[in-house]
Amino acid sequence: MLDDLKKIIKRLNELDVAADITPVVSDQPVPLPPKIFSVSRQIIAVTNQKGGCAKTTTAVNLSGCLAERGYKVLVIDLDPQAHASLGLGMDKDNIDRTIYDVLMNNVSLCDVILKTQVERLDAVPSNSVLSGAQLELASVLGRESVLRIAVRKMLLKKDYDFIIFDCNPSLNLVTINALVAADSILIPIQTHYYSLEGMKELFSTIDIVRERLNPDLQILGILATLYDTRTKISAKMLGQIREYFKGMVFDTVIRNNVKLCEAPIFKKPIHIYDNRSLGAQDYFSLADEVVAKTQKCEVRIGAGKVA
Ligand SMILES: Nc1ncnc2c1ncn2[C@@H]1O[C@H](COP(=O)(O)OP(=O)(O)OP(=O)(O)O)[C@@H](O)[C@H]1O
Ligand SMILES: [Mg+2]
Repeated sequence: MLDDLKKIIKRLNELDVAADITPVVSDQPVPLPPKIFSVSRQIIAVTNQKGGCAKTTTAVNLSGCLAERGYKVLVIDLDPQAHASLGLGMDKDNIDRTIYDVLMNNVSLCDVILKTQVERLDAVPSNSVLSGAQLELASVLGRESVLRIAVRKMLLKKDYDFIIFDCNPSLNLVTINALVAADSILIPIQTHYYSLEGMKELFSTIDIVRERLNPDLQILGILATLYDTRTKISAKMLGQIREYFKGMVFDTVIRNNVKLCEAPIFKKPIHIYDNRSLGAQDYFSLADEVVAKTQKCEVRIGAGKVA
């Protein structure tokens, strides 16, 4: 697998990056299927040590769309940048306790969970203090499993269909904690030049975590993000990603959409900020794929909203 990745990276280096400009797909509303399926609870780490590949955008908006579909969702912000906390309307400088206290001060996860403005969507905030935990955890006994234990204890008291970790852009101990606590990993990958760089390191880490710490860890899927419908390079990159990772890649592709950049400024997930935007359509489509992958049985237990 690692050799194949090297080959792909070599081929990508040889690509002609000249772009053909074709018209952008226009914003067309799509009807959303009115179904809620029963799912097996899923703890998902949204991770890739590459910065800016839409981890936070995916964690926040996938969570929002799943909550809108009727599922109970908890987002846990594992990044000292606290972008997920901010995007969900939390004031990171005026929060008493954060995920840091769970990891380092033995505070119960239940005591750190906050409600968001979105029904059925809760969040555990972070702030810059978390950057200390990345080093401080090194001297803690069972340092890789602190989050796993905290999540399991919390689940004895609270019920969520989905728990989603927004990981920081590095493979540090906090991220390892996420991989050990998770059932599966969702890997956003930009449809940009060089986006496959670093995948080798990520896959090696996943292998080590599986071997030593969490043998049940699955790859839920690889998600192509920041797709520019106007450029050849985006299409080529998407082709390369699909060719190499085959069945691992979600059918949904997240297209470039300025509304996804605007929504966090207004501290709203995309489906609340602009339900008819391309961004909302794409993240609803992803939510439906995630539900399909974690579905227990095809029971219709309610009706979702139609856009
Ligand atoms: N589909 C999209 N269309 C347009 N802009 C996007 C899209 N997805 C993400 N962005 C923007 O790209 C930037 C990076 O996204 P985001 O913060 O989600 O990445 P990240 O992987 O979490 O970054 P980091 O590694 O720093 O945590 C943000 O400004 C975000 O608004
Ligand atoms: Mg982020």
